[in-house]
Amino acid sequence: MTTVLPGHGPEAPGEAETEAFQAVFDAAVAADERIEPRDWMPDAYRATLVRQIAQHAHSEIIGMQPEANWISRAPSLRRKAILLAKVQDEAGHGLYLYSAAETLGTGRDELLDKLHTGRQKYSSIFNYPTLTWADVGAIGWLVDGAAITNQVPLCRCSYGPYARAMIRICKEESFHQRQGYELLLALSRGTEAQKAMAQDAVDRWWWPSLMMFGPPDDESAHSAQSMAWKIKRHSNDELRQRFVDICVPQAESLGLTLPDPELRWNEERGHHDFGPIDWSEFQQVLKGNGPCNEQRISQRRAAHENGAWVREAAAVYAGKHATEHTGARNGEAA
Ligand SMILES: [Fe+2]
Ligand SMILES: [Fe+2]
Repeated sequence: MTTVLPGHGPEAPGEAETEAFQAVFDAAVAADERIEPRDWMPDAYRATLVRQIAQHAHSEIIGMQPEANWISRAPSLRRKAILLAKVQDEAGHGLYLYSAAETLGTGRDELLDKLHTGRQKYSSIFNYPTLTWADVGAIGWLVDGAAITNQVPLCRCSYGPYARAMIRICKEESFHQRQGYELLLALSRGTEAQKAMAQDAVDRWWWPSLMMFGPPDDESAHSAQSMAWKIKRHSNDELRQRFVDICVPQAESLGLTLPDPELRWNEERGHHDFGPIDWSEFQQVLKGNGPCNEQRISQRRAAHENGAWVREAAAVYAGKHATEHTGARNGEAA
């Protein structure tokens, strides 16, 4: 969709004009067209996207921490190379997403500042610790697996830059999911102790990964509006069910058990039934009382401070480069 926009001219649009722009926006969303950065969009649509994309970007970079914890202790060179590549991918996902948020007029500095001061969130799943090597496998299989289930529909999100970023991210996430599955498979076919380690990791990560889909539909504050704007395509409960249905046969092939005695196939619904989720635990972690909340944020702040010299050097270099170009255009020696 390309419309020329209010807000770019010297005067703010009048009421009639805003209504006309709103109608163009609504029609574009209804026709499944993409909204692009220079198109007019309702303020609330912009704010919702900034909040969602920022939270997503923050989750990508905070999510590097629990796994990076095992890079130096990976059991083989092959496993280390795989894990390094995966953690680097997550940094890249953060970058695409911060760039997507910037197209909405919000700077990266502002977003990082909000993360560091607790004014914006990241996915609660990363506040759990990685206690054993098998956790790397459980994260890949379950956490990246849940992320893919959530994110594949975002490739059709109504906001163009977000949708396009998700296409590449989802390709990389499926590599992450497969490496986790393969790691767990190796452990479950290994010694008794290795199999027990894999089972223990799955026992700890299963329920938190179901919570990644967010609160039940009837308690989800933003869902209905996001669905109307086609930012979100499926409800939290629908995606959670899809994830459970995908995981059950995979757990069987792995020879591992999902820690839910109520999990069973429901012929009538054509889906697996599963037990109740302990949302009080989710709320606690969300409030900052998870096992690693403090550690994650303090490490992030330290990484940001340690990187100050890189940002300064890059800014000086960019400034110098700009002057050289202006000089060259003016016929001066660079
Ligand atoms: Fe990612
Ligand atoms: Fe990932």
